[in-house]
Amino acid sequence: MAAAPAKSYCFKVVLLGEGCVGKSSLVLRYCHNTFSDRHSSTFQASFLTKKLNISGKRVTLAIWDTAGQERFHALGPIYYRDSNGAILVYDITDEDSFQKVKNWVKELRKMLGSEISLCIVGNKTDLENDRNVLIEEAEAYTTSVGAKHFHTSAKMNQGIEELFLHICKRMLEVAQAEEAARESDSARMGRTRRGIQIIDDEPEPRSSGSCCS
Ligand code: GTP
Ligand code: MG
Repeated sequence: MAAAPAKSYCFKVVLLGEGCVGKSSLVLRYCHNTFSDRHSSTFQASFLTKKLNISGKRVTLAIWDTAGQERFHALGPIYYRDSNGAILVYDITDEDSFQKVKNWVKELRKMLGSEISLCIVGNKTDLENDRNVLIEEAEAYTTSVGAKHFHTSAKMNQGIEELFLHICKRMLEVAQAEEAARESDSARMGRTRRGIQIIDDEPEPRSSGSCCS
């Protein structure tokens, strides 16, 4: 007998954070393994895909890289509202960019509740000597909002695979829990339907072992 085809999943992930923190650089490093020292501001948003195989499950990630400039803030909901996960990026040398992450967390939790998987990312760890965000503070805040904290350097290609693998696994867990809940719901519905037939006193068809007789 042919093996059942492996299940495949498609998840949408959005990157949010202040301008210049390195959102595009993280996505380009992850999807194309490239890095540029030049900053070219993202306009509105752009989109790349990446395919992964996690324990035999095929996953396609649709990664939305948004514009960090304040004038594009109002577009945020267009990109995050149907996302399975969000990656909130700050620059470890820029305290303001960490405060901006806190604003995004508030907005996402208010609009989407806890159903979205969140990661908070301190980028540019190659500039450790210029750090302006305390590691302990960033990690304690992240835990307090039920998210997971990562440190990355798009420049040195550090921490990025781990970040996307983690968020992918989290989204997979959520999707599988939803599937299990749906299956147990439909099993319950099936039992209820059989129950109603009996209450209605309709004659139960005799089981002949064949669906055609
Ligand atoms: P917007 O599109 O304007 O929102 O910016 P962004 O968050 O997409 O930032 P982008 O990826 O364009 O990077 C901004 C600048 O930071 C660029 O000059 C990058 O080369 C630099 N940069 C990004 N990641 C790193 C990093 O890990 N280390 C260092 N040193 N520089 C980085
Ligand atoms: Mg960008």
